[in-house]
Amino acid sequence: MKGGKLSKLDLAIVLAAGEGTRMKSSRAKVLHEIAGRSLLGHVLHALSPLQANEVRVVVGVAKDEVTNHLAQISPNAKTVFQEVRGGTGHATKLALEGFSVSSSRNGAVLVCAGDTPLLTGQTLLDLLAAHQSSGASATVLTAEMLDPSGYGRIIRDASNNLAQIVEEKDASQQQKQTLEINSGVYVFTAPDLIAALGKLTAHNAQKEEYLTDVIAILKSEGKLVSAFMTADYTEVFGVNDREQLATCGFLMNARICEALMKSGVTIVDPMSTWIDVTAEIEVDVHIEPGTAIKGSTKIGKSAVIGPRASLIDCQVGEAAKVFESHCQEAVIGSAAQVGPYTHLRSGTVLSDQVRVGSFVEIKNSNFGAGSKVPHLSYVGDATIGSETNIGAATVFVNYDGVDKHKTVIGNHVRIGSDSMLVAPVTIGDGAYTAAGSVITEDVPAGALGIARAKQSNILGWVLKKRKGTKSAEAAAKKEGQK
Ligand code: UD1
Ligand code: MG
Repeated sequence: MKGGKLSKLDLAIVLAAGEGTRMKSSRAKVLHEIAGRSLLGHVLHALSPLQANEVRVVVGVAKDEVTNHLAQISPNAKTVFQEVRGGTGHATKLALEGFSVSSSRNGAVLVCAGDTPLLTGQTLLDLLAAHQSSGASATVLTAEMLDPSGYGRIIRDASNNLAQIVEEKDASQQQKQTLEINSGVYVFTAPDLIAALGKLTAHNAQKEEYLTDVIAILKSEGKLVSAFMTADYTEVFGVNDREQLATCGFLMNARICEALMKSGVTIVDPMSTWIDVTAEIEVDVHIEPGTAIKGSTKIGKSAVIGPRASLIDCQVGEAAKVFESHCQEAVIGSAAQVGPYTHLRSGTVLSDQVRVGSFVEIKNSNFGAGSKVPHLSYVGDATIGSETNIGAATVFVNYDGVDKHKTVIGNHVRIGSDSMLVAPVTIGDGAYTAAGSVITEDVPAGALGIARAKQSNILGWVLKKRKGTKSAEAAAKKEGQK
């Protein structure tokens, strides 16, 4: 609503009982996701600024799945069960059972579908405001499409006023030429809607009670019905198959990227950057191509993410850098560096200025400030102090085949390359381990832990045992030079 007081909505009805056959999926259509939120979740989100007194969702196919999902995302919404698909008019009738119109407000009821994820709250507010200022019995949200096929067409009378809605399957050739379509979103004045629903029949191509017929019924009774056209026709795109799911996903992502860029985030290539609606990204973050930022991920100021980074439910501190890496449920401190080719798993906590490098996997471990694990290592179930260096190819041997065990490492420790730290084990502050050691016992603070066989050289072995090889030739040449 542009200015003025917030319009009041008595009831919002979301129709979501359909089969979604064209999705060819074992999941209910409205549970499919774009930008990290279900289609139904997007619709409910768009409805939220209208502050409806009540929200009712008509469920049918996969009723339990949809009901459980609703309980998580919108616990105040009620579900209404439609056992047999009788059409959008039939579904609306069911949803209105037991609804009492508040006389003071004359009962505004909004009806929409659960498969139009691009609708915005602003458009719905504008529709409601238009409905209330015209005093119409019904206001239909319409859009002009370049290709209107599949949608119900808006038929206007000689004075260009809304006359009826004709479904494509029932439309004449001439009616099919109409580019103005029915979005499937309407606001009704409740008593008029209830009365008109009582007069619906199923005399049409699909043998269903069409909600759309309510318009012609109201008109024939001399009631005012009006059409409200969206400025952005993409808002009313519906999802019926996987291609439309991808199209809506693309458009939603473009919208998210645009809003972020407006807020001061650099996105080098929005076409290859996928960001969920739930992610929070601060000013001056710089995002390189091929990056996915998902779930509840939060990214602090001036961080640099990508190229090719995936962050799922992560927290990234200010000015951190994450590139060519996959991170899930990890906390990355300020000015920390992750990548290339790092895998951070659940429970990883990196303090400020930690550096994690190539081919390193970390899970359920804490790193103190300034510590490093730069190359080729596995770190699991560990607590590591600050300013400690884990040498290349170190493995935290946390699993004995049955149970997981903890490793504790102090501050300013130097773990030699290719150490095996067999947990449970503790390495004290300032301690070292010698390269290639298999550490099975605790190393006290300041000690060098060394656990490997002493080297011995068998002189002349190659000349004797590998006669005629290139190695023997090279060795003989060297001998000759002496
Ligand atoms: C409907 C409209 C059409 C409009 C289009 C916009 C009717 C008759 N037609 O057509 O004018 O252009 O939406 O997208 O309304 N549903 C139920 N129970 C039912 C039938 C449908 O809950 O018995 C739900 C579906 O799950 C869906 C919504 O209602 O979410 C719309 O039904 P759908 O079959 O997709 O109607 P369309 O043919 O798309
Ligand atoms: Mg549809």
